[in-house]
Amino acid sequence: MIKVIRADITGLSCDVIVNAANQALRGGGGVDGAIHRAAGPKLLEACRKIGGCPTGEARITPGFKLAAKWVIHTVGPVWHGGDHGEAALLASCYRNSLELALHQGARTVAFPGISTGVYGYPKEQACRIALGIMREYEDRFDGIICCCFSDEDKRIYDETLSATD
Ligand code: APR
Repeated sequence: MIKVIRADITGLSCDVIVNAANQALRGGGGVDGAIHRAAGPKLLEACRKIGGCPTGEARITPGFKLAAKWVIHTVGPVWHGGDHGEAALLASCYRNSLELALHQGARTVAFPGISTGVYGYPKEQACRIALGIMREYEDRFDGIICCCFSDEDKRIYDETLSATD
């Protein structure tokens, strides 16, 4: 089941929350900063040990002080106008994150809108890609949660989800 909610992802007690990270996995602003603050310094230590993550791929760490058991860090593409492979890379983020969550035995996974903040990916286009991949995987989870940070983002997800029912 795909569920759309408006919430701060750091407060969710699901098996996995997904982080919109950067290639260095060194924390940052946006949702990345919020997740690192809530998880505590051990998260950065775990990320340092991993070393880094190429765009489109995903890596997993424990959630430490978070209610979520695991954090999957994925690196979305920076938007450069749409003809630099952005769509395929964004789809890879969702696919690789869900594959990693399955491998970990996770039953519930929550995603923010990867690349739709600092990285500038147009929200409607990013939402269609996210939901397309989630649809492929929804039967293999108890819940895939689209965690929207604003009412506007939630409206985009709700409308796109019902348009593709
Ligand atoms: N909970 C849920 N969603 C959030 C939260 C939160 N606490 N904080 C921000 N968001 C939303 C934003 O509104 C946006 O829709 O997450 C989405 C992704 O935005 P960013 O965090 O800016 O991520 P992204 O665009 O992928 O850029 C990644 O930002 O801070 C850096 O280290 C990060 O360099 C990387 C870059």
